[in-house]
Amino acid sequence: MIIAIDGPAASGKGTLAKLVAQDLGLPCLDTGLLYRAVGRDVAARGFKLADSWAALALARSLDPATLDDPRLRNPGAGEAASIVAGMAHVRAALLDYQRAFAVQPGGAVLDGRDIGTVVCPDADAKIFVTARPEVRAWRRFAERQEQGLKVTYDAVLADIERRDARDAGRESAPMLAAPDADLLDTSELDIEAAFEAAVGLIKRKIGR
Ligand code: CDP
Repeated sequence: MIIAIDGPAASGKGTLAKLVAQDLGLPCLDTGLLYRAVGRDVAARGFKLADSWAALALARSLDPATLDDPRLRNPGAGEAASIVAGMAHVRAALLDYQRAFAVQPGGAVLDGRDIGTVVCPDADAKIFVTARPEVRAWRRFAERQEQGLKVTYDAVLADIERRDARDAGRESAPMLAAPDADLLDTSELDIEAAFEAAVGLIKRKIGR
């Protein structure tokens, strides 16, 4: 059973994916971490983020064991991810790993931007999680404060809007709800309510 959960920045798709995976007893892959890690590795080796050959080489040699690096959650890592994620050959280099994760025995939950459209177009259930940009910015702002980081709400909102525009506007695998995805707007839902709604949508799709 493959569950695809996509959506824009800070929509809550990562938290939802983890809860759904736990509920179903499935492994979960946050595919944003792959792009964040490529951005991290490009910068760590002194290349410019726009250097698409460096990004490709580092995507090909990405070590999945480094995906639990807490620095991947830092402000700036999402922006760097979104720059390398715009490169078609970088996306192609990361495809096999994601598909292999998806087809493991029993299945998996994957969250990202293009899981339902490109990575797993045959997923058993697809949810596209949205929320108004202001709501998403408040959630991310609260996370940043919990991390003890000094950022303004306005800067967080600007980051989210810039990233959404880049992710939706790119040519290669743009952020997009698959035609057969269920839309879940979490603007007015807390995490428990969003989880209940997601489980309901999935059960309806897989006929349980
Ligand atoms: O957690 P948040 O929604 O802020 O970001 P993320 O899911 O970790 O994704 C970071 C960036 O990686 C996004 O802005 C996208 O540019 C890129 N990404 C992508 O292109 N395709 C995916 N399947 C997942 C992430």
